[in-house]
Amino acid sequence: MAEEQLTAPSSDEASGKRGIHGAWSSRWTFVMAATGSAVGLGNIWKFPYIAGENGGGAFVLVYLICILLVGMPVMVAEVMLGRRGRQSPINAMRYLTQEAGLHGAWNAIGWLGVTAGLMILSYYAVIAGWALYYIGQMASGTFQGASADQAGVVFGQLLSSPKELIFWQSIFMLLTMAVVVGGVTRGLGVAVRILMPLLFVLLVILLGFSIQRGDFARGFSFLFSFNFEALTWAGVLEAMGHAFFTLSLGMGAIMAYGAYMPDHARIGRTVLAVGFLDTLVALLAGLAIFPIVFANPTIEPGAGPGLMFVSLPVAFGNMAGGLLFGSIFFVLVTLAAWSSAISLIEPAVAFLIESKGFNRITANLLLGGLAWSVGLGSVLSFNVWADVTLAGFNFFEFMDFLTSSVMLPLTGLFIALFVGWLMKPEAVRSELMDESSGVFTAWRWILRYISPAAVLVVFVMGVYKTFS
Ligand code: PFF
Repeated sequence: MAEEQLTAPSSDEASGKRGIHGAWSSRWTFVMAATGSAVGLGNIWKFPYIAGENGGGAFVLVYLICILLVGMPVMVAEVMLGRRGRQSPINAMRYLTQEAGLHGAWNAIGWLGVTAGLMILSYYAVIAGWALYYIGQMASGTFQGASADQAGVVFGQLLSSPKELIFWQSIFMLLTMAVVVGGVTRGLGVAVRILMPLLFVLLVILLGFSIQRGDFARGFSFLFSFNFEALTWAGVLEAMGHAFFTLSLGMGAIMAYGAYMPDHARIGRTVLAVGFLDTLVALLAGLAIFPIVFANPTIEPGAGPGLMFVSLPVAFGNMAGGLLFGSIFFVLVTLAAWSSAISLIEPAVAFLIESKGFNRITANLLLGGLAWSVGLGSVLSFNVWADVTLAGFNFFEFMDFLTSSVMLPLTGLFIALFVGWLMKPEAVRSELMDESSGVFTAWRWILRYISPAAVLVVFVMGVYKTFS
């Protein structure tokens, strides 16, 4: 097939007034949208439970190092690629590959990313569905005065019912598609600006409860004392994969959002703000959850995906105003998941519109339907297919492993190599003009040497040890 010739974005497009998908109204909207994408189930639900499964402290340390040395540099690279390409990740990569005079195989960065996004969305919608279900359970008083055992029973009942799970998964998917149909800049930008601060406030309230009523000292030391014996290579790979997952990297979301970024916005600071907020929310969630876990001996730190859905209802059910706060909390978790889910589907939607002439509605129906169908596998893996495993993983675990621990780090590695080694340094510099030359040089050095080496070592060792 002949490569279609891709043109550079017009100056009108480059000035931020892009016709086809729209643009963020300001740098601040980008920060909020990117934070909306980054802060989601990964921070509140996934981070605490995988930290718990991997013994806590040492895992957290590796995760933080990965955020700093791999996540942040790659995020700068992704925003930069998106803004220079000014199209969906697939077409942006086609354009940039041509610009750099490289083999078309580098387009794989775009394709891998978009595919990973849809795969993540498939199970993300299932888990977000749990949060939706919990809003009603909280409000109706199911957890009033509940013990950890009782909360465990409610959660178990939810998981055992495919019908219930599919119902809530479907509602969440429809919500996501509805916003993406409306376009990214309207609605979402506004919603995120109000909701993210609110989520933060509620987490602080929960933290207050944990300090007062949980075993805070034990929770704290679990998260921050570095017990390296508990850490395995498989855990290190999971920590690195999670650094990509939580920052929405390695799958085109940030690249797609970068494409809507105003031309003169400073990328470096923006990325720092997003990374800082994302990490803060994850740590706050961990600090809110673990003290409650340790105060209730029937909840195991390594309880897995149900950790938040069992520990937090116990907290809410036993605090003054807990029913109200609890309902609000799960509304906010749903919203955080919503603003992330949008960024999981948007890159693929943008591609179908640009290249295949779809309109937003059809593109959403098609892709949303696809992710929904694949998600049924995850639904069933919590009940009917619980014992169906591949390489020791059930369907949900397999999708999670394949995306977080394989596809995202590999795409991130390719991005670091592409920007660090293959793009013309002047082209890279021209997008990062506002950074001082010291900052630019340090960033490029880390991206060329440290990030790829770290990803490679962790990936090879992690995969080898996971399967040996
Ligand atoms: N960063 C999101 C979270 O932590 O929940 C998940 C996610 C969103 C991953 C968008 C990847 C992505 F592109």
